[in-house]
Amino acid sequence: MNLPETRPLTLIVDDDPLTHKMLSYMLKKDRIGVLEAFSGEEGIQIAKDKLPDLVLLDVMMPEMDGFEVIKRLKADRKTAEIPIIFLSAKSSPSDRVKGLELGASDFVSKPVDQGELLARIRTQIKLKRQEEALREYTQNLEKMVESRTRQLIHADRLASLGTLSAGIAHEINNPTTFITGNLQTLEQFWAKIVDYLSSHPQAAQDVKIQYIIKEFPGMIRSIRAGADRISNIVAGLKTFARKDSPRKAPTQVNELIEEALNLTHNRLKYYVNVEKSLAPDLPAIRANGQHLVQVFVNLMLNSADAIGDKTGLLKISSEATSDGRVRLIFSDSGEGIPPDVIDKIFDPFFTTKPLGQGTGLGLSITHGIIRDHEGTIDVESTRGQGTTFTITLPTGKRP
Ligand SMILES: Nc1ncnc2c1ncn2[C@@H]1O[C@H](COP(=O)(O)OP(=O)(O)OP(=O)(O)O)[C@@H](O)[C@H]1O
Ligand SMILES: [Mg+2]
Repeated sequence: MNLPETRPLTLIVDDDPLTHKMLSYMLKKDRIGVLEAFSGEEGIQIAKDKLPDLVLLDVMMPEMDGFEVIKRLKADRKTAEIPIIFLSAKSSPSDRVKGLELGASDFVSKPVDQGELLARIRTQIKLKRQEEALREYTQNLEKMVESRTRQLIHADRLASLGTLSAGIAHEINNPTTFITGNLQTLEQFWAKIVDYLSSHPQAAQDVKIQYIIKEFPGMIRSIRAGADRISNIVAGLKTFARKDSPRKAPTQVNELIEEALNLTHNRLKYYVNVEKSLAPDLPAIRANGQHLVQVFVNLMLNSADAIGDKTGLLKISSEATSDGRVRLIFSDSGEGIPPDVIDKIFDPFFTTKPLGQGTGLGLSITHGIIRDHEGTIDVESTRGQGTTFTITLPTGKRP
């Protein structure tokens, strides 16, 4: 039987100096660390302070005997798990039973047989280490289950939101089409009314009519802007609620990044310096190009917003990974994301932008598209320094 890798530590609690000498010589020779206590009280204190892997405990001691020591060690949560081997010169079977009932792991008679004691010590230490490993494993498992459950709840919530969004999008779409349709007719009618008024100077001189002529075009413009905004939100909701898997074809991601940069050029040109590092030999991936362009545009516009009106940097890189994927990194020097909101940024409708500027759908759509491509998207951000989004997408090739 091999001892565990880290050097184990034992605590000898015995009032007899000779036993100490003999035991510590034997243990040290076997590369086992030794702590020594000469009374029950001292033993309890050292056990609490140093948390040894094992206690060798004499039963018969003045003041506080071994039974009392074990009671106290087992009653304290800190020391309760430390295995204890009783050492006793003349133990009756009832003593042994009492010791075991109090939580002793084993019993060895004095004078001790070195081979036997070492074998028993090794067994106890090994058991303790295995228990610790098991406890750690269980805790990790609990954490994994917790995090997976959170993901599932999130996915479930997104799925119900998807269904709800599809319904809302459909309901809003119809009235919006007749608002925009009638607006067009209204604009044409207005042109005719203005023509008519200009041929009737008497009416055109009426102050109220003059006011109407002045204000009307602005009102129509703002109605149109509002209607366009509703249409955009509806389009966003529809994309978010999309259930079908996108049609995919072999695609060069670098080309899509260039396309997205062309689309966002006007928004980026004043304050955002773009630094590209695109791998020339990037393998093609199976993707829906238009959807991925939408992802890249979303990320670029978010970076532009985060950079604001002080000049900043957006670094975009692409590379092949050793496990057969493509990794894309979008890293900006913008304002960063506060830690208390970073968990929410992929939620639909979550936005920190002023009313009317962000729908909060950009990243939830992005997340949906990447998921449709069996990819991953992660974010890291430092407030005041910038934000990095990392996307990986499968190439379908084995590493
Ligand atoms: N690069 C970034 N730097 C700092 N904050 C970001 C960045 N990207 C996203 N965010 C934060 O995440 C929020 C959600 O982003 P998302 O793209 O989903 O919506 P939005 O940009 O607010 O609105 P929309 O995309 O619909 O215009 C943003 O409001 C912003 O607070
Ligand atoms: Mg956005």
